[in-house]
Amino acid sequence: MIMGKMELIMLKKDTSWENSSDWYKKAVGEKGHYYHSHIILPKGIPLLDFSRFENPKLLDIGCGQGILSRAIPHSVGYCGLDLSKSLISEARKLAKDREHQFIHHDATKPYPIPRESFTHAASVLAIQNMEDQASVLKHASLSLVKGGLLLLVLNHPCFRVPRKSSWGYDEKAKIQYRRIDAYMGDLKIPVETHPSKKEKSPVTFTFHHSLSYFSSILLKNGFIIEKIEEWCSDKKSEGGRAKAEDKARDEIPLFLALLAKKERE
Ligand SMILES: C[S@@+](CC[C@H](N)C(=O)[O-])C[C@H]1O[C@@H](n2cnc3c(N)ncnc32)[C@H](O)[C@@H]1O
Repeated sequence: MIMGKMELIMLKKDTSWENSSDWYKKAVGEKGHYYHSHIILPKGIPLLDFSRFENPKLLDIGCGQGILSRAIPHSVGYCGLDLSKSLISEARKLAKDREHQFIHHDATKPYPIPRESFTHAASVLAIQNMEDQASVLKHASLSLVKGGLLLLVLNHPCFRVPRKSSWGYDEKAKIQYRRIDAYMGDLKIPVETHPSKKEKSPVTFTFHHSLSYFSSILLKNGFIIEKIEEWCSDKKSEGGRAKAEDKARDEIPLFLALLAKKERE
């Protein structure tokens, strides 16, 4: 049987962003991409509330080129895990703190760190790129002390399902709306890094799950959700449809932040 490019892509097991790492290094740079610097870091870091613990230590799951390590206060210990060797090596190069550790590791497999050695864990725009998300939470939970905090920052699973959601414009009502074609089912969605290059583009994967899936795997792994935040884009449009586009941006959030506390093993 001869397989097509899409079938071969779907069989690809490694979910790392190694093949897209050159592009991702440039896109994020030292200070983060637009949404890191305008929304995710200014809203996400206060949620982690490091002052709750005397010696806070953060485990960053799917750390990429280490943007979160460069944004946290100096007093916070840090270890980042990622499956891309190039992104881990870029994270080491850009590190501001020589004590910060970066480990090349698959976050769905047992972690090479002592149990209960972290007060905090975070996964920023990364858990949706990992296949077995329940295992990620299991290992995150084992790494955390009781009472430890876990922050998941997600592309909002209700409104941003790659290939299955899109903007539309209602000419009569002059309303920009969001169209959702699929939501409840689990999906493995290939995403081209450079869509204009078509077949030649590197591919990453999004593993889509509903909000209730996250709630259930958190509970199963000993976490109770403390807080949910939904973050909208602060960008502004220009041109004829600016009002409708700005309104839609204020109504439909881009990101979902789930802050959970480890209550038990
Ligand atoms: C969108 S990037 C986010 C990186 C970083 N958190 C940030 O905000 O820039 C997703 C990251 O997840 C990593 N990743 C995918 N599957 C992984 C796995 N199984 N274990 C560890 N990292 C993984 C990729 O290599 C990539 O660096």
